[in-house]
Amino acid sequence: MGVIIKTVSGNAIQPYIPDLARLRMDIFRDFPYLYEGSAAYEEGYLATYLRSEETVMVLVIDGSRVVGASSGMPMEMETNAVTRPFLEAGMSTANIFYFGESLLYSPYRGKGIGHKFFDEREKHARASGTFIITAFCAVQRPTTHPLRPKGYQPLDAFWEKRGYTRRPDLMTTFQWQDIGEKEETEKPMMFWIRKW
Ligand SMILES: CC(C)(COP(=O)(O)OP(=O)(O)OC[C@H]1O[C@@H](n2cnc3c(N)ncnc32)[C@H](O)[C@@H]1OP(=O)(O)O)[C@@H](O)C(=O)NCCC(=O)NCCS
Repeated sequence: MGVIIKTVSGNAIQPYIPDLARLRMDIFRDFPYLYEGSAAYEEGYLATYLRSEETVMVLVIDGSRVVGASSGMPMEMETNAVTRPFLEAGMSTANIFYFGESLLYSPYRGKGIGHKFFDEREKHARASGTFIITAFCAVQRPTTHPLRPKGYQPLDAFWEKRGYTRRPDLMTTFQWQDIGEKEETEKPMMFWIRKW
């Protein structure tokens, strides 16, 4: 596979918005996200990435097809759901860089691209000189969840190896419609952070 990694910021993300929406809708259908996406919501959400030159998108391109992507933005650009736990804990959000999703189609997994996603986003966050913390959050699903695939391996060990610490004291909720559900419900999300 002739795969290349391309990192873009701000307005340069614009041409890739439909690719990102497709990746999110395809890959977040799987456990643990189980996300029944809507194209309209995706376009609105992703437009946030164009509002600042400090945002970042790491793209994985095979030929002419985007097969993976990973994103980040200054935490202060994020919604209240993201900033609230930090503000309530008395932390400043001005020096936190927030990582959004990491998405990769399964044939491309297990080859080190997940590491590259962290390397590139951390490099971008640190280059600005503003950010002393990088952070992301992960959905919490019960281990007994009926849609959890047999042999499912959580990414916790990978994240720990990358220097991130789970923070059960920094929790929020995101709302979305699960596959098979009729309406949106609140999902508990736990933050992981790394101090630089
Ligand atoms: C997260 C994701 C991007 C990682 O990409 P990847 O290219 O497979 O990751 P890498 O090959 O760099 O491997 C990273 C580590 O994860 C581990 N890993 C790889 N595949 C794994 C799997 N299926 N399950 C659990 N851990 C796995 C490896 O042990 C590796 O650690 P190592 O350094 O000890 O080898 C990819 O798995 C994915 O798209 N998952 C679905 C979406 C998702 O859950 N995103 C994360 C939150 S938004």
